Amino acid sequence: MRLNGPSIARLTSRHFCSTAEINVSRAYRCHARPTISHGAARPSQRVATPIPTSHLAFRRGAKTKSTVKLKDLPQGALKLEPYTDTVDDAPRYPTVVQGHRNNMQKFKNCVILTRVGGFYELYFEQAEELGPLLNLKVASKKTSAGPVPMAGFPFFQLDRFLKTLVQDLNKYVAISEEFAPSADDRTRSTGLLFDRKVTRIITPGTLIDEKFMDPSENNFLLAIYINIPALQAQLEQQQDGSSYQHILSSASQHVGLSWLDLSTGDFFTQLTTAQMLSSAIARIGAREIVVDQGLQDLIGQELQSLIGHDQRLMTLFQFRGDILPMSQWGSMLEAPVDAKAMDSFTREEVAAGSSLLEYIREQLQGSNMKLQPPRRRHLDESMNIDRNSLRGLEILESARDGFGKGSLLHAVRRTSTKSGARLLRGRLTSPSTSLEGHTSPYASSLVAMINRLHLDGPSALADRILAAIDEEGLQQKQRIDDDTAAEAATLAQEVATNEGVPSDLEALPKKVRAKNSDRSNAATDEHSDVESWVMRRDASPALHKLHQSLASLQDEKFTLTQTLRDAVGSSALSLKWTPGLGHICHVKGPKVSQQALEELGVTRNVSSTKSTRSFYLPAWTELGGRIDQVKLQIRQEEQAIFESLRREVILNLVKIRRNAAVMDELDVGCSFATLAEEQHLTRPILTQGTSHKIVGGRHPTVKLGLEEQGRRFVSNDCFLGGSERIWLVTGPNMAGKSTFLRQNALITVLAQVGSFVPAEYAEIGMVDQIFSRIGAADDLFRDQSTFMVEMLETATILKQATPRSFVIMDEVGRGTTPEDGTAVSFACLHHLHYRNQCRTLFATHFHALADMTQDFETLGRYCTDVKETASGSFSFVHRLRKGVNRESHALKVAQLAGLPSETIEMAHAVRQSIQKEVNVNGEHAS
Ligand SMILES: Nc1ncnc2c1ncn2[C@@H]1O[C@H](COP(=O)(O)OP(=O)(O)OP(=O)(O)O)[C@@H](O)[C@H]1O
Ligand SMILES: [Mg+2]
Repeated sequence: MRLNGPSIARLTSRHFCSTAEINVSRAYRCHARPTISHGAARPSQRVATPIPTSHLAFRRGAKTKSTVKLKDLPQGALKLEPYTDTVDDAPRYPTVVQGHRNNMQKFKNCVILTRVGGFYELYFEQAEELGPLLNLKVASKKTSAGPVPMAGFPFFQLDRFLKTLVQDLNKYVAISEEFAPSADDRTRSTGLLFDRKVTRIITPGTLIDEKFMDPSENNFLLAIYINIPALQAQLEQQQDGSSYQHILSSASQHVGLSWLDLSTGDFFTQLTTAQMLSSAIARIGAREIVVDQGLQDLIGQELQSLIGHDQRLMTLFQFRGDILPMSQWGSMLEAPVDAKAMDSFTREEVAAGSSLLEYIREQLQGSNMKLQPPRRRHLDESMNIDRNSLRGLEILESARDGFGKGSLLHAVRRTSTKSGARLLRGRLTSPSTSLEGHTSPYASSLVAMINRLHLDGPSALADRILAAIDEEGLQQKQRIDDDTAAEAATLAQEVATNEGVPSDLEALPKKVRAKNSDRSNAATDEHSDVESWVMRRDASPALHKLHQSLASLQDEKFTLTQTLRDAVGSSALSLKWTPGLGHICHVKGPKVSQQALEELGVTRNVSSTKSTRSFYLPAWTELGGRIDQVKLQIRQEEQAIFESLRREVILNLVKIRRNAAVMDELDVGCSFATLAEEQHLTRPILTQGTSHKIVGGRHPTVKLGLEEQGRRFVSNDCFLGGSERIWLVTGPNMAGKSTFLRQNALITVLAQVGSFVPAEYAEIGMVDQIFSRIGAADDLFRDQSTFMVEMLETATILKQATPRSFVIMDEVGRGTTPEDGTAVSFACLHHLHYRNQCRTLFATHFHALADMTQDFETLGRYCTDVKETASGSFSFVHRLRKGVNRESHALKVAQLAGLPSETIEMAHAVRQSIQKEVNVNGEHAS
C-alpha cells in the first residue's frame, strides 16, 4: 500500500507542528490509498497521533516547552492503524447527506450522484455549480447543521444526465446506489431502510453500454507508459538547449501504449516513440487518456496541452511500480494471452496494459469485465499519419466545424453496420503498409476471408436458438405488456381528467397523453387469460412434457367448467384466478340456488351482487393449484433453457467475435465496392517503389461539393519520383494549389486502406508516413503563435520524413515577413531535397524559390493559371501545367470576396507604386 505525495506532505507537516496544536487538534484521518488523482481514496486508515503522551503531557493554558528532543520524535515510517470512528458532538448532516459529503471527500474530483428513492441527488457546492448547467433547479435542504444546496433528477433520466456530465462536460461521475442492508446491519445501524455504496465511477473512457454512446465509433481508453528515470536520464544528457516545453518531441525514448474499449472488449497495445506520441494519440482518438502521476512534474504540461488540444481528457493515475505480468491478466480477459504471443509484447506495452487494467478495475468498483486478449499493433505495419495531417487532411472531421460532414470518412462511408463503420474509421487512421493484402487477387483474398469464418459451433448454436425461442410468443408478450401499459396510461388520464386540474393533465408524460382511450379495455380482457411463453414447446423434452401436462390440466378445467355449468344451469359460469382472491368460480346472470351450490361442494361465498356471484369450490382450488404448479415448472424450465443457451453463447464467444470481425471486413469491402461503382473509381496498383503516378486524379470531397453546385471538377495528374521527387507548385490564389496537394495525399491514404481511388489510373509506391503542413492556424490555446505552430509542424516533418514518406507543404513561411518566409522555405526545400529525399508537393507564393532552386536536380516546377478575356472577365484554370506562374491575381480574388471598391482601387495604386519602386531599384542596381 502506497501513500501519495500530497498525503505524505500533509502528514509530515502535521507531524512536526507545534505540540500545542497536536494535542488540541482532533485526530485526523489519512487517505492512505489514493491512487487516482481525482482522489478515489479509501478513508479506511488513520494515523495515530504520533507524539507519545507520557513525554509531552499537556494541559490547556499551562506553560509549554517549545523545544522537543530529537529522540522524542517518532522515527521511521509512519504507522498506519485501522480507523475507528470517533464520536462527534457537532450537529451532523442527515445520514444520506453526510454519506454524500463523505463520498465527495473520498472521490475527489468526481461528481457524486446519490440515489435517494426514485431520484439521483447532488448536494453542496456540486449542486450549486452543476445544477444550472444541467438545467436543474437548485433547492435548499434544511438540516440541523444548516441549509444544504441540493438538486436532483428522476432515476430513469440517469442516461441523459450522464451524457451531459461525462460526454459534454468531461466529468468523472461516481454513482452511489441504494442497497437493502442485511437484517444484522439494520439492527446495528440507525435502522435506515437503505445502505448506499459507490458502485461505479463513470469517466469518458469507461463507458460500457450507455445508450448515448455513438455505436459507429469506438470509445477508447488509452494508457501511456513512459519510463520516467530513463526519460530523465535522456533529458540530462541532451541539455542541448532544446526547448523545455517540447521535451516529448525531442526525445527518442520508447513509449508503451495500451488502449481498450469496454463496450466491445477490444484491447490493443503498441510500442511507439516519444516523438510519435502526438500522432498516436490523434490516431487512436481515445476519449480519456490515463497518464502516470509521476510524469506530472516532468512533462505534465506538455502532455496536457497535447491531449487537451483535441478535447480529450487526461487522467493522472499512480501507475504500479511493479508491472503485473501478462500471465496474471487472465481474470479480466475472456481467454488467456497465448504463451507464444506473450513474448512479442515489449516491456513498455505490458506496463501500459497492466496500468490500464488496474485503472479500470478501480473505476468499475468490482464489476466483472471480460476483455479480448490484447492484440499488438506494429508501428511499421501501418502508415503513420501524424496528428496535424489527420486534421489538415480532414480525414475524420472537417477542419472548419470539427464535424464529420465534409471529412474523408463521411465521403467514403457506405458501410451497413455500426461495427463496419468503426472498422473503416480505424483503417482510415492507420492505412496498411503491407503489400501482401493489396496485391493478392480478389478471389484469393475472399477465400482467405471465408476461411477465417468459424461456422461449426456458432451455426449449430444459431439453429438451437432459432429452434428454442418462440418469437411469436415474445411478440405476444410484448403486446400484452404494451396493453397493460396502455391501460395504466388510460387510467391515469381518466383520473387526471375527472378528478384533477388541467395542470395535472399537462404534467402527465407525453406518451401517456398521446394514448387516448381508443385502445379499448376489451383488448386487455382478451389477453388476461392468455399465457405467453418465450420458448417453443419442444425446446427440450422436459418442456414438451410439461406443456403436455398443462394441456391435459386445461382439458380437466374445461370438463369441470362444463360439469359445473350443467349443474347450475348457466353457461355464464367461469373458473378464474384473481390476485386478491385466488381461485374462484364466477357466475353471471340467473340466480343460482344455494342448494345447487352446496350440492357442488361450495364451501364459502366470496361475494354476490344482484346479477353475479363468486364462490370458492375445492375442486377448482385444487385443480387451479396444480395448473399453477405446472406453469411455474414451465417458467423454470424456460429459464434453464435460456441459461444453457447463454452458456453456449459464452462458450462460442471467441468464434462469434472472430466471425463478427470477418463480417466487419466484408462490410468495409462492400462499402468500398459500392463507392467505386457510384463514383467511377479505379483500383490502384501498389508497389515497393518510391514514386507516384496518378493520372486524372480528383479530390474526393471537393469534387462532390462542386458537383452539388453544378460545377465541374478539373482532374490533374501527379508524377512524383525519379527525376522529379519534389513538385514546386505556384499559381494565383484560388486556382487549386491546396486542393491538388490534398487530393494526392488522400488518394494515397485511400489506396493503402484498400479502397478504390478517384483517378483514371494510379500506381503508388507504398508510403510509410504522410505529412501535411497546411495553412496557418493559430494555437493560442497552447500558447503558441501562428508562426510557432508552423515551425513546430515543419520541424516534425524535417526530422521524421524518410525516403518512403510523402510530404505536402502548403505555403510554409507565410506567417512572417516575405524575406524570412522565403529564407525558411528555401532551407526546408533544401532539407527535403537532399536529406529527407521524400516525395514532396510544395505550394508557395514565394516565386523567388523557383529561381533559387534552379540547381536542385530532382525538383519540377508546376503552376496553375488565370484565364482573362478581352472584356476583363476572368476564370481560374485549375489544370496544372509545367512552369512557374508569378502572378497571384490576389486583387481579383479580393474583389470577388467583396472588398469595398475604394479599397480595391487603393490597393491597385499601392501595388503600382511598389512595382515602380522595385523597377527603379532594379535599374539602379544593374
Ligand atoms: N481542380 C479543380 N477543379 C475545379 N475547381 C477547383 C479545383 N481545385 C480547386 N477548385 C476550386 O477552387 C477553390 C480554391 O482552391 P484552393 O484553395 O486549392 O486554391 P489555392 O490555389 O490553394 O488558393 P490560395 O493560394 O489562395 O491558397 C476550391 O475551393 C475549389 O472550389
Ligand atoms: Mg491554398
